[in-house]
Amino acid sequence: MKNFTVSELIQNRKSVFPPLYIKKEIPKGIIEEMLENANRAPTHKLTQPWRFKVVRGEGKSRLGDFLALKYKELFSDTSFSERKYKKLKENPVLADTIIAIIMQRDVDESLPEWEEVAAVSMAVQNMWLTASAHNIGSYWSSPGLIKYANEFFDLKEGEKCLGFFYMGYYEAEIPTSKREAIATKVEWIEE
Ligand SMILES: Cc1cc2nc3c(=O)[nH]c(=O)nc-3n(C[C@H](O)[C@H](O)[C@H](O)COP(=O)(O)O)c2cc1C
Repeated sequence: MKNFTVSELIQNRKSVFPPLYIKKEIPKGIIEEMLENANRAPTHKLTQPWRFKVVRGEGKSRLGDFLALKYKELFSDTSFSERKYKKLKENPVLADTIIAIIMQRDVDESLPEWEEVAAVSMAVQNMWLTASAHNIGSYWSSPGLIKYANEFFDLKEGEKCLGFFYMGYYEAEIPTSKREAIATKVEWIEE
């Protein structure tokens, strides 16, 4: 792995989507490194609300089948799209690994929920940057169907799925996405 400065690493991170993934296995050690780095995210009151379900092998097609069937069940009478059905079914299989992003709500509600969502998001950013440093493509997917994730995963009380982190090696050249200049989003208060 190349040594990146922190700014290079952050500025090169991007979303890479499953149709661009190639068939090349991600070593388990890299997934473990991503999870270790996720675990270093900051967390108010040390609630450490991030939980992950790592889906690989046959688990991927089971997840794709679940999402597609759930979509069909919910929308076959209304806005069903064959394209969306296919995408839900196939994307998990195109990925090498999918990590379900779960938030464990503190049972004592010692913090507002948003702080736990924020901590989980910081954990995801750590995973994303780690994947990026290894030239592994990834993205955070948050389909509406995640509210039914408890029908696929064994979720404990207070656990909520916030999305799926898809990943896979890729070969295509992908530019980073555009941002409005930071100056339009910042006010400096110096006096
Ligand atoms: C919380 C969160 C949820 C996201 N959900 C989706 C999603 O459901 N579908 C999608 O295509 N991209 C999703 N994304 C990825 C964004 O589309 C992507 O980050 C954005 O377009 C900027 O591109 P970049 O990541 O390459 O900088 C999500 C990103 C975040 C942070």
